[in-house]
Amino acid sequence: MDIKLQAEEFALFRRWVEEISGISVDDRKTYLIENRLGGLVAENRCSSFGEFYQKYKNSCPPVLRDRIIDQMTTNETLWFRDMHPFTIFREVLLPVYCREIAAGKRRTIRVWSSACSTGQEPYSLAILFLEAMRTNSLLKRGMIDIMATDISDSVLAQARSGSYDKIAVNRGLSPEYRARYFTDEGRLWSIAPAVKELVKFEKFNLQDPFAKLGAFDIIFCRNVAIYFSEKFKRELFAKHAGILTRGGILFLGSSESISLYSNEYDMLEHNRGIYYRVRK
Ligand SMILES: C[S@@+](CC[C@H](N)C(=O)[O-])C[C@H]1O[C@@H](n2cnc3c(N)ncnc32)[C@H](O)[C@@H]1O
Repeated sequence: MDIKLQAEEFALFRRWVEEISGISVDDRKTYLIENRLGGLVAENRCSSFGEFYQKYKNSCPPVLRDRIIDQMTTNETLWFRDMHPFTIFREVLLPVYCREIAAGKRRTIRVWSSACSTGQEPYSLAILFLEAMRTNSLLKRGMIDIMATDISDSVLAQARSGSYDKIAVNRGLSPEYRARYFTDEGRLWSIAPAVKELVKFEKFNLQDPFAKLGAFDIIFCRNVAIYFSEKFKRELFAKHAGILTRGGILFLGSSESISLYSNEYDMLEHNRGIYYRVRK
């Protein structure tokens, strides 16, 4: 039998979910918590959300906490999602980096995919870099360093495996890239080791301090801030600005904008794609 979420329980769970993940659940979305966490409540032999809260709020085993986070995150993603950031990388940013490399002013390009889900975003970028290497002898594998992080263990496990089912592999990927960078293993398609080796996956909660991550030339923070409160969005974009290198670039999702939350970036446009350059 489905366990119903009472109004007072909604208030408690909403605060708990925001505390551990930053995800802010709208007043009108009680069903989200009821549908996504009801199974965990039952599985842990609790007869109500209230009982589960009393039992685990102050002494939640890390495994259970991660399961709550896994259930509450939305992991939708695809290859070369929205295309613009990837076109901007290839047509605008990479030529600049190449000039700097040729002039001896740069040795590496550091990129962070900060809510990478099942890996399509960082792997798409790795594929573009390998494509660029085919025609530009200046570029070498060791010149790109792509870090990809997410809060959810289950998406990271899939990302690290580099294996995708037929539906996932076909979403956004051209037949040409699929043939060049994937192997058909029957039920799953595996990404080529040459792509996989360019991306390092780590678990990271965007609520945590960024200092230990080092500095980045490019940050992808796409389709995740939409789930956060206004206050957290302001903090998040400020933290990103703090670890971008001088003139570093931030990409957001196509429906996201920074203007209400930060004045530390200049908004730029290329072929109708928007990107943000930190002002420092
Ligand atoms: C909709 S996916 C976006 C994936 C990819 N960036 C894209 O645009 O296709 C959002 C991801 O954000 C992650 N996420 C949610 N809250 C997070 C947090 N506090 N820290 C890190 N990742 C988080 C989720 O686990 C999910 O995989």
